[in-house]
Amino acid sequence: MKMKFKLAIIGYGYWGPKLARNFLNSSKFDISFIVDKHKKNLIKAKNDFPLAKIIDNYKNIDLDYIDLVVVSSPTSTHYEIAKFFLKNTNVLVEKPLAINISQVVELEKISRKFRNNLFVDYPFIFSGSINYIKKIIQQKRLGKLLEIESYREQAPVRKDANVIWDLCVHDISILKYLLNDDPSKINSIKYNTSNGKNEDTAYVHLQYRNQLNVFIKNSWLSPVKIRTIKFKFTNGFIICDENESIYKVQIYRKTKKNSLNYKMELPEIDLTEPLLNLVNYISKSIKNRSNKIFKKKFNIEISKILQKI
Ligand SMILES: NC(=O)c1ccc[n+]([C@@H]2O[C@H](COP(=O)([O-])OP(=O)(O)OC[C@H]3O[C@@H](n4cnc5c(N)ncnc54)[C@H](O)[C@@H]3O)[C@@H](O)[C@H]2O)c1
Repeated sequence: MKMKFKLAIIGYGYWGPKLARNFLNSSKFDISFIVDKHKKNLIKAKNDFPLAKIIDNYKNIDLDYIDLVVVSSPTSTHYEIAKFFLKNTNVLVEKPLAINISQVVELEKISRKFRNNLFVDYPFIFSGSINYIKKIIQQKRLGKLLEIESYREQAPVRKDANVIWDLCVHDISILKYLLNDDPSKINSIKYNTSNGKNEDTAYVHLQYRNQLNVFIKNSWLSPVKIRTIKFKFTNGFIICDENESIYKVQIYRKTKKNSLNYKMELPEIDLTEPLLNLVNYISKSIKNRSNKIFKKKFNIEISKILQKI
């Protein structure tokens, strides 16, 4: 029988069960421990995974049997929990990895020193749509990339991070993954529209080399959920709408040079759930003791941009 990796999940609120479902569906992991502080979530965990040990304190996880710890507790707890485990095992942390750059640098250092992988769940970089668009950009199939506009609106209001660390982290991880570059200029306006604890709305402008301009709007508060990115090229546009169930990528190709008429194409893209792709990536990385995506200071560079914003 094929050996499965043993997993502990810390935080079984909104996102934890989604991660658990994907680890289960991959057939490469056994869920050994689920940890939460709230009784209601512990009962839910027991119902979902009767064979797992369900506990309320992550310090009681028996690490001898664990290959991966998944941290899906609130953002303000990530640093402390990841630091506790990284010396002994691989860790996947929900986005954002931490709430400031010095915490991120320290976690990266520990991961390197103890040769344990540190993964972060930036789900969109594992989506079929973003990976399809990456190829179009790299192969210049629509010419030069001139402009990107991203609208990311409606999400749970967070008490322990502002909208930049909570939502813009998705845009910055996508940009880093697509462009493999960092912006030379950063401007932003952020404000609090709801008397909450943190800024809930932000407009961000990033300038990259070759006059590429990126405009980002993030807001937790919106009556409709928006996850749309528009890419403008010399020979057409791509609209990526992660809310679409099938046609997430729409290509509008100019019919002639300098024309304002476009022919629309709906390419077939890989619709595998991004979290399942992430889980498969993690299982391969643990098996091969590698971590291609996260090894080149990916997390540090993303966090540096968030901090500047
Ligand atoms: N990748 C994504 O697209 C995505 C989506 C949603 C949330 N998230 C991230 O996931 C994290 C959790 O978000 P959520 O919406 O699931 O929050 P949530 O509040 O619904 O769930 C967090 C759970 O952690 C538990 N918890 C708190 N402190 C704990 C501790 N010390 N030990 C064990 N359990 C503890 C809480 O009881 C709660 O059940 C956040 O960092 C958030 O940014 C990521």
